[in-house]
Amino acid sequence: MAYVQFGYGKHRCTGERYALTLIKSLMSLLLRKYDVTMKAPLPDPIFSKAIGTASPSKKIMVIVTAKK
Ligand code: HEM
Repeated sequence: MAYVQFGYGKHRCTGERYALTLIKSLMSLLLRKYDVTMKAPLPDPIFSKAIGTASPSKKIMVIVTAKK
């Protein structure tokens, strides 16, 4: 979850709970149908202090295969 940031202060995201529920639902659907293997360790997140968001410092490499 290091990459999913919702800002802070006065303009902090009001949709956080909905967004997290949606992410968990989609992840559970994905993991029921596919095996996901990391090809490399998770890169460090880069934080933006300006709006409280984060993004990966490098591409995230994964192998996704359909479950049999
Ligand atoms: C993974 C999904 C989401 C992420 C990562 C995210 C992230 C953010 C961030 C970082 C901000 C702060 C922007 C700033 O400070 O300028 C923000 C604001 C906001 N978000 Fe989200 N958001 C997400 C989903 C949603 C959803 C689903 C909704 C509504 C259903 C929503 C509604 C809002 C609103 C209304 C604001 C502005 C709040 C204000 O200015 O007072 N967001 N969001």
